[in-house]
Amino acid sequence: MDKLIIEGGVALKGDVRISGAKNAALPLMCAALLSGDPLILSNVPHLRDVTTMLRLLGQMGVNVSLDDRSGVELHARDISNPVADYELVKTMRASILVLGPLLARCGSARVSLPGGCAIGLRPVNLHIKGLEAMGAEIKVEQGYISAKATRLRGARIFMDIVTVTGTENLMMAACLADGTTILENAAREPEVVDLANCLIAMGARITGAGTDIIKVEGVKTLHGATHAIMPDRIETGTFLVAAAATGGNVRLVGADGHILDAVLDKLREAGAEIDVGTDEIRLAMDKKPRSVNVRTAPYPAFPTDMQAQFMALNAVANGTSVVTETIFENRFMHALELQRLGADIEIAGNTAVIRGVAQLQGATVMATDLRASASLVIAGLIAEGKTTIDRIYHLDRGYECIEEKLTQLGARIRRSS
Ligand code: EPU
Repeated sequence: MDKLIIEGGVALKGDVRISGAKNAALPLMCAALLSGDPLILSNVPHLRDVTTMLRLLGQMGVNVSLDDRSGVELHARDISNPVADYELVKTMRASILVLGPLLARCGSARVSLPGGCAIGLRPVNLHIKGLEAMGAEIKVEQGYISAKATRLRGARIFMDIVTVTGTENLMMAACLADGTTILENAAREPEVVDLANCLIAMGARITGAGTDIIKVEGVKTLHGATHAIMPDRIETGTFLVAAAATGGNVRLVGADGHILDAVLDKLREAGAEIDVGTDEIRLAMDKKPRSVNVRTAPYPAFPTDMQAQFMALNAVANGTSVVTETIFENRFMHALELQRLGADIEIAGNTAVIRGVAQLQGATVMATDLRASASLVIAGLIAEGKTTIDRIYHLDRGYECIEEKLTQLGARIRRSS
C-alpha cells in the first residue's frame, strides 16, 4: 500500500494549478445518462473516484472516450444495464447519483445501497423519498434499491436536511419528468449550480439553482452538450491552508475565490493576506497563525470538507480554538492522528477544542478518509522531522497529483509503494 513521506518545515512558495472539482465531476458524469447524445466534459480531474464513475457508467453501456487533455466524452446512446453493483458502489458513495438519471431515462434502476462510511451514517432516505414523491415505486431488498416508474411526474419536494447529492439526484430526475418539480430546502453548493448549468446546456429547464428553491420543468428529451467543470474549491482551500500553516506565499492558478468566502474569511482571521483575482488566488503568511473558531454548515457557510484542514492549522496556531462539526456525526477521526503528531485536541461530542502548540513532531499516522488525509498532509508539512502517512489511497480519491503539486511549491514529499 502506498505511503506518503514528508520532511516538514518548508514554507510553501510558488504557483500551482487547481484541478476540476471532484464533487462537480461526479454528478456531471451521471448527467450523461439523461441523453442519447454525447456529453463532452473538459477540465475533468484525474482521480480515483472519477475512474470508478467511468467504470460504473461503462458497465451500464455508456461509451466512454478520453482525450489526453482532461477531456471525457460520454455517450449513453443505449443503456443496456441500468444497474450499479455493490462492488463499485461500496468504493464510492457518489455512485448513488446514477439512481435519478437511470430511473428518469430507462424507467427502472437497481442501485446498491452504499454501505457504512468513515465519517458518518450518511443515509439516502431523502433521495428515495423524493423519487417516490415523483411517482417511483421503490423497494429496498437484498442490499439494493430497486426503482421503477413508467414516467416520473413533477412534484413539490421538501428536504428536511440540506443534502448535496440528494438535490443533484432529484434535479437530474426531474429534468425528464412530466410537469414541474419544486425542490425546497435545496442545497446551494456551487457544484449544484455547475450541474444545473450543464443540464440547461443539454436542454433542461431549471431555475433557482444556487438558491434553496429549485424549479425544474420537465422536458421530453435532453440533447448533447459541452461543459467545462468548475475548479475544485476544496482542493483550493486545502492548498491555501497548507500555505498559511507553513508561513508560505503561493499563487493558485485557475482557482475561483468567489465561491470560497467562508474559507477565505477564516484564513484572513488567522492572519493571512489574500488577493482574489478573476482566475487566481494569492496568499501570503508571514507570521504564526492565530487560532480560528470554525463551525461547519451547508453552503455558503463553512464547508465540512475543510474542517479537518483547519484543525491542522489550529494545532500550531497562537491561542485556543473551537471547531464544531454539524454535518457528519463522525468526522473527527483525524484529531486522534493529529494528537500522535503532538497536537493538543480535546473532543466532546461534535466539538473539538484545540490548544495551539509551539511545534508538531513527525510520526507515522494513518489516513482514515479523504479530508482527514489532507489534514495529515498539512500537519506533516508543518511538523519537525519525518511524517509517514499510511493508507493514502483515500487521498488519491480526491486530490489530483497532490505530491507533484506540493513538490512544485517546495515541499519535501515523496510516495513510497
Ligand atoms: N442525509 C440524510 N439523508 C439523505 C441524505 C443526506 O440524512 O438522504 C444527511 C447526511 O447523513 C449528512 C447530511 O445530510 O448528515 C448532509 O449530507 P449530504 O447528502 O449533503 O452529503 P453528500 O451529498 O453525500 C456531498 C459531498 C461530500 C460533502 C457533503 C457535504 C459529493 C460527491 N460529496 O456528500 O464530499 O462532505 O456533500 O457538503 O458531492 C468529500 O469530498 O470528501 C465529501 C465527503
